[in-house]
This record gives sequence, C-alpha cells and structure tokens, in this order.
Amino acid sequence: RPLHYFEEVGSTSDVAKQLAEEGAEHGEVVVAEAQTAGRGRRGRSWFSAAGRNLAFSVILRPDLPPQRASELTLVASVALCQAVRDAGVEAGIKWPNDLVYQDRKLAGILTEMEAEADRVHWVVLGVGVNVNVREAELPEDLRPIATSLAEARGEPVPRALFLAAALTRLEEWLDRHAEEGFGPIRAAWRDFSDTLGREVSVRLGDRELVGTAEDIDDAGALLVRTGGGLERVLSGDVQLLR
Ligand code: BTN
Repeated sequence: RPLHYFEEVGSTSDVAKQLAEEGAEHGEVVVAEAQTAGRGRRGRSWFSAAGRNLAFSVILRPDLPPQRASELTLVASVALCQAVRDAGVEAGIKWPNDLVYQDRKLAGILTEMEAEADRVHWVVLGVGVNVNVREAELPEDLRPIATSLAEARGEPVPRALFLAAALTRLEEWLDRHAEEGFGPIRAAWRDFSDTLGREVSVRLGDRELVGTAEDIDDAGALLVRTGGGLERVLSGDVQLLR
C-alpha cells in the first residue's frame, strides 16, 4: 500500500482526507517531515518540530456502522502505546487517546470521518508523536505539559523505525478489532490506562466534573464516580489530578 511522503504539508490529515475523497485505499499512509498547520482535537493547533517528531495520517475504510467508528480511536491509542513501550518508554493512555509519560503528553490522535447513516466512507487517523524533540525546543507553553520519547528514554529514537513499528502495531490491533470486536481493545486499553483509578477533572463545555475515573464502558465512554453518582462522559477534556 502506498506511503505518501512529503517534506512539508499543511496537515497530513488534510492531505489524507483529500486522497480518501479521490478513492485512496484502506491502509494508505501520509507522512510529512513538517506540518505548517497541524491540527489537534477540539480545534486546537498541533505543534510538531520539523525533522524531530512524527506526523502521519492513516486512511481507513472500516466495515463498521458509523456509531462504532469512535472505537477506532481507542484501537489506535492501544497500538501506539504498545509501540511506545516497545521503544522502551513506559507510557500510559490518558482518556480517550493521549499518550502520556509522567503526566506529560507524548502523542495525540485525531480521528475524523465521513459517513452516511449506515456506512462509513473513510476514517482518517491522524497521529502526532513527540519523538526526538528536546524540551528546550518546545514552545514555552508546552514545556510543562509535553515531553518526547527521547527525553523519556535519555537517547534519540530512530523515527523511521518507530513509524514502521507503530504501523505494524496499528495493523495488528485493527485486525484484532475487526475479528473480535471491541472487547480485547477495551481490556488492553484498561491495562495501558493512566487514567483509571485517578482523580480527574473533566471539562464538558461550560461544566466541570470532578471525580474518580472508574472505567470505560463498552462504547469507550469514561465513567466518572462523583459525589452525585456515576457520570458517563462521551467526549471531553480530561485533566489528571492525582
Ligand atoms: C490531539 O492530541 O489534539 C491530537 C493531535 C493530532 C496531531 C496529528 S499530527 C498528524 C495529523 N495531522 C494533523 O494535522 N493532526 C494530526
């Protein structure tokens, strides 16, 4: 399957969406050395140091009803977490799909899709990994909240090898998900979770929820135990408190 390589693009996910619209196949990958307009979740921008980090997007054509497409985000976080651990960094997953090391962000995933009522046309999984960026190279506002594989491991990580490992893991977990459903993904996510059992604060639009992250349910929603009972969070921003 083609791997589309670019020195510089606005966003690999924008390129991948365009290719998907033009008929690109399941598994095609877009990777770039640099992004000038990297996008994060919730309309945020995504910083990616040119030549030091990894920014790639994978086109998927899953055989899933649109309501289940959000499971793919957790599939990707499990695969990526495994690849990071294989690279010697004991990362964990912050719900829903951030990879963190000692509460600092190592990687993020942005899932976008186009679907009809009962059919997914395409999903683009956009993955950004802080591989070899040094703390001093991060924008000041990110320094306290972000880190990289190299910082965590104390030595650089070859980016091409890491990309190959991440894609291999992704393929394995996508196959597993297609064959066995969400069950094994949920189990692995729980294993890798850095969220469950901890006090969290969840921002839900203009509301803030504080409680203990208890579990994820069979749709991947986060269950938070608060003074008022168990709350189910389908989307939101989680902060780990302690
Ligand atoms: C997040 O944590 O907010 C998600 C970040 C996703 C960033 C990646 S980098 C490759 C792909 N292209 C983009 O513009 N965004 C994703």
